[in-house]
Amino acid sequence: MKISVVGGGYVGLVSSVCFAELGHTVNLIEIDADKAESINSAKSPIYEIGLEDLLLVHARRNLHACDNYDGIQDSDISFICVGTPQGDDGCADLSMIASASRSIGSALGDHDRYHVVVVKSTVPPGTTESLVIPSILKHSGKKSESIGFAMSPEFLREGTAVKDFMNPDRIVIGSRDNGAGDLIEAVYKGLDAPVIRTSIVSAEMIKYASNSFLAAKISFSNEMGNICKKMGIDVYDVMKGVGMDYRISPHFLNAGAGFGGSCFSKDVTALIHLAENLGEDPVLLRSVMEINDRQPLRIIKLLEARIGDLQARKIAVLGLAFKNNTDDVRESRAISVISELKSRGAVVVAYDPRANSSMQRLLPDIEYCRSAAEALTSADACLVMTEWPEFRELDREFELMKSRVIIEGRRILSCRDVEGICW
Ligand code: UDX
Repeated sequence: MKISVVGGGYVGLVSSVCFAELGHTVNLIEIDADKAESINSAKSPIYEIGLEDLLLVHARRNLHACDNYDGIQDSDISFICVGTPQGDDGCADLSMIASASRSIGSALGDHDRYHVVVVKSTVPPGTTESLVIPSILKHSGKKSESIGFAMSPEFLREGTAVKDFMNPDRIVIGSRDNGAGDLIEAVYKGLDAPVIRTSIVSAEMIKYASNSFLAAKISFSNEMGNICKKMGIDVYDVMKGVGMDYRISPHFLNAGAGFGGSCFSKDVTALIHLAENLGEDPVLLRSVMEINDRQPLRIIKLLEARIGDLQARKIAVLGLAFKNNTDDVRESRAISVISELKSRGAVVVAYDPRANSSMQRLLPDIEYCRSAAEALTSADACLVMTEWPEFRELDREFELMKSRVIIEGRRILSCRDVEGICW
């Protein structure tokens, strides 16, 4: 099938490469011409396991990136994969969705075959019906029968996005009419997963509810951890026992410094706003966020309890990415921890295997090191903020510290004398 993908960011690029791997011909529309060129040269603008290998196979063969919408003319189906960042008011900022819809509509004006437009971006329930469809129909000048509309959310985790795309738990397809849904089902042919067909608005809500539930599991585990720590109980033993109940599942029960990343916080916040606008009082969702905002600061309290005043003390922060296997620092728990350390006058030295430069753009005035050993040298204390596997191997490096005070915000270290944020 001939597919256009609008947006060469995380979701758009991974989806494009995977659609190409499924045998489709993909036209990736990325308005940043340099980025499009880099994709055509099989150089991935983001670090993601397996992505560049697939780009090497498909770029300039059945995957072409370009900076205009001309290719839509020749496509059977278009996927909207642009960003929906958090707006200043906490609601999702839909300006990129609006602009993509206008451009797709204009490009479809001269298109004479049936075409299906699918929203893959995470959008508040109702967006496809109230914004995307009217805009595309208006700018194309077409009747609704000649364009099919659908919503098919993604469930890709950074670091394992290619694997997640090729091995989904389920494929959600929300469509207005069966024809549009059938066409999308054909696009995903080759993936071994149950398909759930819904209305467009239900598909939009499935994504928000999924992310909110996962975020709730993490905040729940963190609250359990905070209680357990006070009682000398290991929350990891507890959640292992809890997760063995098939109704709960063992995943996303790891207590720690809380969730970061571009999605959970943005999506839960958007759902809170949506609920409030509907006159609801989303107490659970608000608590999920409140626990998450407070959680990383507990590590500062533990640190002060161990070494007292932080003024002029050298604190090594190991791990800056919001999780391992990514260079992404968006909403990383390390950001609030480093900001607190700085406000207390501490000297922060940081190290991350991949995310030093992304954090340096955000926090330029701390010292960045090329190894954990360098960061630990003569440090008064060490805080571990990301679950990088290489940290598990750290042992003798801690002997380089001035005093051996090690507190981890993620359960990763295997050496002795380590205190956990909530274990
Ligand atoms: C998430 C969703 O998982 C994905 O389905 C969605 O489409 C995009 O958002 P991502 O943000 O890439 O993916 O990362 P994820 O693996 O979900 O982790 C998010 C955060 O939660 C990380 O900071 C991670 O360290 C933290 N986390 C995860 C925990 O604190 N405990 C856990 O048990 C699991």
